[in-house]
Amino acid sequence: MTTATDAKNSFRQNLEFELALEFVRVVEEAAIASAHTMGYGDRKGADHVATEAMRRTMDSVPMRGTIVIGEGERDEAPMLYIGEQVGAGWHDGAHCPEVDIAVDPLEGTNLCATGSPNAITVLAASEKGGLLHAPDCYMEKLVVGPSCKDAVSLDAPVKDNLKAIAKRLDRDINDLVVMVLERERHKKLIDDIRATGARIKLISDGDLSAGIAAAVIGTGVHAVMGTGGAPEGVITAAAMRCLNGEIFARLIIDTPELEQRIAKMGIKDKNKVYTSKDLAPGKHVIFAATGVTEGTLLKGIRFFGEGTRTSSLVMTLDSGKVRFVDSIHLAKKPDVKVRFA
Ligand code: FBP
Repeated sequence: MTTATDAKNSFRQNLEFELALEFVRVVEEAAIASAHTMGYGDRKGADHVATEAMRRTMDSVPMRGTIVIGEGERDEAPMLYIGEQVGAGWHDGAHCPEVDIAVDPLEGTNLCATGSPNAITVLAASEKGGLLHAPDCYMEKLVVGPSCKDAVSLDAPVKDNLKAIAKRLDRDINDLVVMVLERERHKKLIDDIRATGARIKLISDGDLSAGIAAAVIGTGVHAVMGTGGAPEGVITAAAMRCLNGEIFARLIIDTPELEQRIAKMGIKDKNKVYTSKDLAPGKHVIFAATGVTEGTLLKGIRFFGEGTRTSSLVMTLDSGKVRFVDSIHLAKKPDVKVRFA
């Protein structure tokens, strides 16, 4: 017999399904727009067109969305600023779900500007209150996949974490690959990883897509370590919840402004170690990303004259779906042909 709770849950799962597909459209459009600028050396321009396309497409989604992580505060970002209301539900008065949304319209602006791998367009959404409104500061991160999540700690020495990961993955430390942003601040971290014998993939940008790769078997990435953006950390957390991976994270609060900001958020312990459940606590979490340039998990945008091909990942937590979506966007011309692969 179907109970009222079952009916409510299934209604919410349907919302997850429908919004997830709508969000694929949103990240696809942003990816297509930014891919048109690939290699132009203009990271701001690439980000701008992605943001514009994401913003425009969001307004056709049947929801009442609020940006909780976006392009900046209202006075510094014209679009997708924190607190901005997005979605058709605000305009047409229709009864639509209320959702909080974290966006990174172009993750890896430099990667797109230089045509380097792993630029993506990405967003995460949840019911209201389901995503931490993290300040735009740095965050120390450790990201691992499902088999290693209860074997590591952000405060453990690098060598202990790598030993534990190697054991859980049933291999030698020398067979591990750790992704680290190539930054001066990571000199000691890189030395510590090298001292264990583990291998490193230094990346110029994009610790969010690196984190997702670490939680998916077969990508050849076993962990992400180091300090990157806190907003990217929250979106990574949404992905980890859907993939059963884990992010351990700590905000880097090193200015009086940030102290004040976290105090306003009610955060008392600035050294708190967050997990994915703290950063993205929602019950209904949706994650969507599209590849802009060729990547570890997602192919880049391909323009082929008669249309455009996109490769996306869309995941829903409550209904437990991880979908890789290969879309062909046909040009509006007669006799356009669809190619299988
Ligand atoms: P953009 O998308 O703004 O170009 O940032 C990409 C990124 O590399 C993130 O993946 C990472 O978390 C952050 O920047 C690191 O910041 P910084 O470049 O200041 O070290």
